Amino acid sequence: MTEVTLHRVRPEEWEEHRVLRLEMLRDAPDAFWTTHEQALELDEATWRERIASTFHVHARLGDDPVGSVGMWDGSDPDPDGTNLIAMYVAPRARRRHVGERLVRAVLEEAQRRGHRQVLLQVTDTNAPARALYERAGFRLTGGQVPHPRRPGLVELEMVAVLDARQCPGRPHPHCETQDRADRAGVRGLPT
Ligand SMILES: CC(C)(COP(=O)(O)OP(=O)(O)OC[C@H]1O[C@@H](n2cnc3c(N)ncnc32)[C@H](O)[C@@H]1OP(=O)(O)O)[C@@H](O)C(=O)NCCC(=O)NCCS
Repeated sequence: MTEVTLHRVRPEEWEEHRVLRLEMLRDAPDAFWTTHEQALELDEATWRERIASTFHVHARLGDDPVGSVGMWDGSDPDPDGTNLIAMYVAPRARRRHVGERLVRAVLEEAQRRGHRQVLLQVTDTNAPARALYERAGFRLTGGQVPHPRRPGLVELEMVAVLDARQCPGRPHPHCETQDRADRAGVRGLPT
C-alpha cells in the first residue's frame, strides 16, 4: 500500500495548496466558511502570504496531495490558544487515519509553540468530522454560532486542552492521562 506522508507547506508550493483548497471547497462547501468562488478570486501573492502567515500541513499519498490542515492564531491572537482550520481529506484517502494524523500534527505544533488550547468550529451535522475530533481529544465547549451561509446549520465550537494546569473540572483525555501520571509521580504531559 502506498505510504501517506505529512509535509509542512511552503509558500512556493502555493499551487499545490490552491488545488487542494479548491477541491475541498467544491467537495464539502458546508464544512468551510470561504466559498469556492471566493477562493478562485485569490491571486498568487495572496496564496503565498496566507501560507507564510499560518502553519499548513499537507498529507500526500505518494506524490498525490490528499489532505490538508491549518493552524491559525486568529485576527486577534490569544497567547493561550490557537485554531485548527481547513481540515480536509480527499474521498480517495478517507478512513485511513489521514485526518487523525493531520489533527495530531496541529496539536503537536500548538504544544511546541506553548499554546494551552486548540479551538475549532465544526458544523453540527458533520458527523464524520465531529467523530474524528472527539477521538483526537476535542470536546464541545457549548459555544456556537450560526453557519454564515446556510440558514439552519450551526457551527459548534470544540476545544482540545494541551496544558494539564487547565484540567480541574474538565473531562479531557489529556487530563485523565495526567491524573494517572501524577499519581505515578510522572511530571509533564505524555506525548
Ligand atoms: C472529516 C474528515 C477530515 C475525516 O478524514 P479521514 O482521514 O477519513 O478520518 P480518519 O480516517 O483519520 O478517521 C479517524 C476516526 O474519525 C472517525 N471518523 C472519520 N470519518 C468518519 C465517518 N465517515 N463516519 C464515522 N466516523 C468517522 C472514526 O472514529 C475514525 O476512526 P476509525 O476509522 O478507526 O473508525 C473527512 O471526512 C473530510 O475531509 N470531510 C470533508 C471536509 C470536512 O468535513 N472537514 C472538517 C471541517 S470542520
